[in-house]
Amino acid sequence: MSSIYIHWPFCISKCNYCNFNSVPCAGNKMDFREWLNLYRRTLLAFGNRYYRGDLVTSVYFGGGTPSLLPSSFVNNLLDEIQKLFNLSENAEITLEANPDAINPSKAKEFKKSGINRLSIGVQSIIDSDLMMLGRTHGSHSAKECVFEMAQIFNNISIDLIYNRPGQKVEDWEEELIEVLSFPIDHISLYELIIEDRTPMKTMIDNGILPAPDNSSEFFERTLEITQNAGFTMYEVSNFVRTTLGEGAKILDNFYVSRHEIHKNYLKFSPPPSKVSQHNLSYWQYLDYFGIGPGAHSRVTLQNGKKLAIMQTKNNFEIEYLSREDKFKERLLMGLRSNICGVNLFDIDDDIKLRFNIKNKLEKLLKNEYIVMYGDRVVLTYTGILRLNLIIRYLADSGVI
Ligand SMILES: C[S@@+](CC[C@H](N)C(=O)[O-])C[C@H]1O[C@@H](n2cnc3c(N)ncnc32)[C@H](O)[C@@H]1O
Ligand code: SF4
Repeated sequence: MSSIYIHWPFCISKCNYCNFNSVPCAGNKMDFREWLNLYRRTLLAFGNRYYRGDLVTSVYFGGGTPSLLPSSFVNNLLDEIQKLFNLSENAEITLEANPDAINPSKAKEFKKSGINRLSIGVQSIIDSDLMMLGRTHGSHSAKECVFEMAQIFNNISIDLIYNRPGQKVEDWEEELIEVLSFPIDHISLYELIIEDRTPMKTMIDNGILPAPDNSSEFFERTLEITQNAGFTMYEVSNFVRTTLGEGAKILDNFYVSRHEIHKNYLKFSPPPSKVSQHNLSYWQYLDYFGIGPGAHSRVTLQNGKKLAIMQTKNNFEIEYLSREDKFKERLLMGLRSNICGVNLFDIDDDIKLRFNIKNKLEKLLKNEYIVMYGDRVVLTYTGILRLNLIIRYLADSGVI
């Protein structure tokens, strides 16, 4: 086991685009003590059943808006984790924060509790777009928050959403260039997904907002601009600031000499310190253990079987993953990351035969959509542009 995810599903209000498991809730009406007991009981039950004493290298408080939690809540849970597991001395411990749900004194308390990485949901630095997204903060407070938090934490990341309704590529370029000048070493840039049953989907369906552009231009420009600013993509939405030209060189190769890619990515092993250790464990398909309503876990039993567990409000839904499910999940997670990829060694021979993997990989290699490093399959630049298509092609009978 390598990571623990703690899901806090409450927010100040619901954003127009969001279909995450989160609900608006007034903080002053919450009985945090009761919730804490529930989380502690779950940790204990899980720890005793599957993982007591196992090494934990990352803990992630996500949401929802976990920066609405009292720091004593975070402190208490981290204590509990320390008692139950072998929490690594240099574990990455992240908390997601919304700009209007954190301030310097609260941030200092979180730091004292053990948080050493902050992920701030900026989303945009344009007021009218923040309003369209349904955010409760403006551009000024988002920027102020990033600069204040950078004084307190030396590992902060920010989230932005691009290809918003009505956004022009040139406007995104300008916004991104400004954001990359902030005091951050890591950034997550998500292309907007118009989710079903969200106010944004209704506004688009009713012609109140224009549908976002579906070309790859936004993504391509995002790659170029981040590279020019000294950030390296290591997953389709995640970028890390790299020093000594190392990152730029890696990305140059990504464009220029595709066959060199993986050799260069290997320079990332061990990865730069600001690569998200927690997310790396997802992309490598390692076990993780999620607690909180709606949180998911992947647990490997001693007999090698893997369980998918979802926590509902008071219970757990447990499902055995078939070997086919595991294969598909591995593809879905691994191919997103150009430093992880997928190791064919981890996939059963009969699954490879059934899905005709050998022939499909030959075809992908010929088209220069992938490179192989030993048994590891990694997408190239042109491959990443076709990520979903390639996953579908490998995981079922899709065509390329
Ligand atoms: C788990 S969410 C919550 C983080 C935090 N509550 C916030 O909103 O600032 C993590 C990130 O997913 C991204 N996200 C959420 N919904 C999205 C959507 N429909 N399309 C693209 N990105 C989305 C946002 O950038 C968000 O910061
Ligand atoms: S604050 Fe984050 S989790 Fe909450 S509704 Fe907005 S995007 Fe979703």
